[in-house]
Amino acid sequence: MVNVLVTGGAGFIGSNFVRYALGRHADWRVTTLDKLTYAGRRENLHDVMADPRHTFVHGDIADAPVSGPLVEQANIVVHFAAETHVDRSIQSAGEFIRTDVEGTFVLLEAARRAKALRRFVQISTDEVYGSVATGASVETDELRPRNPYSASKAGADRLAYSYWATYDLPVIVTRASNNYGPYQFPEKVIPLFVTNAIENIPVPLYGDGRNIRDWLHVDDHCRAIDLLIERATSGEVYNIGGGNEVMNIDLTHRILETLDKPRSLITPVADRPGHDRRYCLDTAKLRALGWAPQVRFEDGLRDAVAWYSANEWWWRPIKEKDPAFRAYYEAQYGRRG
Ligand code: NAD
Ligand code: TYD
Repeated sequence: MVNVLVTGGAGFIGSNFVRYALGRHADWRVTTLDKLTYAGRRENLHDVMADPRHTFVHGDIADAPVSGPLVEQANIVVHFAAETHVDRSIQSAGEFIRTDVEGTFVLLEAARRAKALRRFVQISTDEVYGSVATGASVETDELRPRNPYSASKAGADRLAYSYWATYDLPVIVTRASNNYGPYQFPEKVIPLFVTNAIENIPVPLYGDGRNIRDWLHVDDHCRAIDLLIERATSGEVYNIGGGNEVMNIDLTHRILETLDKPRSLITPVADRPGHDRRYCLDTAKLRALGWAPQVRFEDGLRDAVAWYSANEWWWRPIKEKDPAFRAYYEAQYGRRG
């Protein structure tokens, strides 16, 4: 059996990856380590919690006595755990430094003691390149992160790299573009706008709505990570981009059309400070290893909208009953409109 540690496996991408990995690799034993912050939810793993090849550990990556032994026993570590929302990092950056930078440091130190570790996947982000006015970011481009989230991710990205360069750990770094799909916390733009539209409440579009993101279906992301675990070269960085550049205003129109809701729900609100205008990835390096996205954006978005429509049990308790979500929403949007 192959021991795979997935940090942040109760979050959006992590839970999709755990499900994908258990389905794809009969010889993998997967351990999820997750602190269950507001973004981490047991419900995200509801269908794999009882799987005999899956173990769930409730704990903090930065807590060395908890995370250390799990890393030491692993053959593969896929490190998703992070604070991930740009707007929250602008409100308060401390947890981003603690988890994304310090937490990664704790895992890397444990990895130095691991006896049979063959891959440490540092999940970074396209946001470390900063705003890209023209062209597409290649892996060797300078990092120019512009908000506390992307800066903390850039710190972790380079720290992980340094453990390859210095200690010869089998580290690779992946930089994916914006993901979408099921189980994404409804603070991120797609699930927020879809669920607001279902509730017939305004969708708050930042600034002029002309910022561009490159959308990647979470299933295509999982396939890319899986391939890289086998085929990547240690010490290398790999971009993972969907190749779907979409302006926020166009994305919003598509969501509303899919749900048959009026454009009058769109409410322009004050822009995000330092709002990156555009991200765009060159993915030639990954494609040369045999990966290509399989989900067309039209299909993936329609399926995602259908998933949130069919799974109100998942998001309504968060949006309607969780006082922390309501407080966040009020702080983020209350004075903006
Ligand atoms: P998410 O916010 O949905 O999930 C993060 C998970 O990490 C949660 O389950 C949370 O409980 C857990 N976590 C947070 N702090 C922890 C700690 N100290 N110890 C243990 N667990 C902790 O995030 P996501 O969207 O699934 O993103 C996963 C990873 O992918 C992150 O590293 C993120 O930077 C990266 N990424 C995300 C995107 C995207 O579009 N969502 C794009 C590129 C890269
Ligand atoms: P988001 O989902 O927060 O991802 P990221 O900032 O990591 O790219 O935001 C995606 C885009 O949507 C980004 O340009 C900001 C914009 N946005 C809005 O216009 N309104 C919102 O309420 C949110 C959350 C995001």
